[in-house]
Amino acid sequence: METGAHARQLFAPLGPGYDRYGALLSFGQDPRWRRFLVSRVTAGRDDTVLDVATGTAAVAIELVRQKDCTVVGLDQSAEMLAEARRRIALAGLTSRISLVEEDARTLPFADGHFDALTFTYLLRYVDDPAATLKELARVVKPGGTIAGLEFGVPEGPWRGPWELWVRLGLPGAGAVIGNGWHEVGAFLGPSIRDYYRRWPLPRLVEAWRAAGIDDVQFRRLSLGGGVVTWGTKR
Ligand SMILES: C[S@@+](CC[C@H](N)C(=O)[O-])C[C@H]1O[C@@H](n2cnc3c(N)ncnc32)[C@H](O)[C@@H]1O
Repeated sequence: METGAHARQLFAPLGPGYDRYGALLSFGQDPRWRRFLVSRVTAGRDDTVLDVATGTAAVAIELVRQKDCTVVGLDQSAEMLAEARRRIALAGLTSRISLVEEDARTLPFADGHFDALTFTYLLRYVDDPAATLKELARVVKPGGTIAGLEFGVPEGPWRGPWELWVRLGLPGAGAVIGNGWHEVGAFLGPSIRDYYRRWPLPRLVEAWRAAGIDDVQFRRLSLGGGVVTWGTKR
């Protein structure tokens, strides 16, 4: 199956319980990762940030809370966006966050349209991460921040426990939760491992630079289970 279609199918049933179960499957670390991601972004009250692969809008909401900016949340999944809409309303942020159903690989925005851009767990779902990075960078104005969050693979002594967790723990937890999570639980470990085999961090940093992003930095969080990368549009 084409990767975009696979991602659409994978996320369709997850919307309503996504944040609760997502936190469970990352040992409660992913809200902390999102807070750190947003802390890397330079934006203020007059700025508009594009949050790509916004899912249930957790990063979009965090952006408004930390930066007081306006956010456009973009995702290709109607089901995830329906849940995002509910959460944004609950948070009282409908005037600050708008949502669009679009594909991150072909953004419907002019060059330099946004003051900054965030994305989460996106590049594993596209066939050509380098081309998608270029497309993301295209819509950010020069000097704007681009920041992304992805799962990581711990190195050294934590690699063994990580392998155990993604081979047994995650699929098991997914099976208990049900409702689409078994497939995600079984899919995540191989997807993350395969992604870093093809795109080790030094190669990824090169792809960020080739996309027109300077001062690229990354930080491994929670023993390497999460990786935040950020830089400035040239
Ligand atoms: C794991 S969720 C992340 C959601 C949220 N940003 C978060 O912090 O948890 C990944 C999201 O990426 C979206 N996605 C995957 N490929 C995409 C693409 N090509 N264009 C737009 N969204 C995409 C999925 O629909 C899903 O909502």
